[in-house]
Amino acid sequence: MKHIAALRKSYSRETLNETDVTPIPFDQFAKWFHEALQSELPEPNAMTIATVAESGRPSARTVLLKGFDENGFVFFTNYESRKGEEIEANPFGTILFCWLELERQIRIEGSIEKIDRSESLAYFISRPKESQIGAWASPQSQPIANRSILEERQSQISEQYAEAANLPLPENWGGYRLKPDYFEFWQGRESRLHDRIFYQMINHEWKIGRLAP
Ligand SMILES: Cc1cc2nc3c(=O)[nH]c(=O)nc-3n(C[C@H](O)[C@H](O)[C@H](O)COP(=O)(O)O)c2cc1C
Repeated sequence: MKHIAALRKSYSRETLNETDVTPIPFDQFAKWFHEALQSELPEPNAMTIATVAESGRPSARTVLLKGFDENGFVFFTNYESRKGEEIEANPFGTILFCWLELERQIRIEGSIEKIDRSESLAYFISRPKESQIGAWASPQSQPIANRSILEERQSQISEQYAEAANLPLPENWGGYRLKPDYFEFWQGRESRLHDRIFYQMINHEWKIGRLAP
């Protein structure tokens, strides 16, 4: 087996310049997201979201992006999960997309808030019924004694709602929106001299700059 330290790849697909990017970072994100979709990457909307506990300790996990516009980036989860508790205590986060096939990374930082219940409900009922049951069945991030506890809850809930087309929206489940004030677009380049273009919101305007790789 090859030694880990010897694993390396040269990046040379594309370049990213201050003059190439759109003035508004949401448009630049839309452009790159569209290219990720076109490239048929596996789960291009999978992103890491990092949050920070009240103690200052960070944590990160993958979630799926379910929508974005100039108001922010939306994902859905259990509000009583570890991330939910951390966001409650410290409503800031960073999301990260890593699209290795495109030699690209996008980092987006900002404040996080719950979306409207009506928006969460609209998404919840658009999900397959099995996923709606899953949201009810799983006390996300809580220790459980074994898997059969989950499976029993699942069959009990599916029996309870056997006749219903949709389940009600659980109180502890819904969307969050990260409202960005900072973006960074990273494009891999040769010899590790990568391109890093950032946008920072200053006095209600996006300032664009470059960072050393
Ligand atoms: C590809 C992928 C997509 C995921 N999407 C979601 C999601 O949209 N929402 C969610 O709550 N968890 C999602 N998860 C599970 C989370 O990574 C995580 O295990 C869960 O949310 C609990 O995280 P927490 O204990 O840090 O709150 C996904 C995991 C993977 C690998």
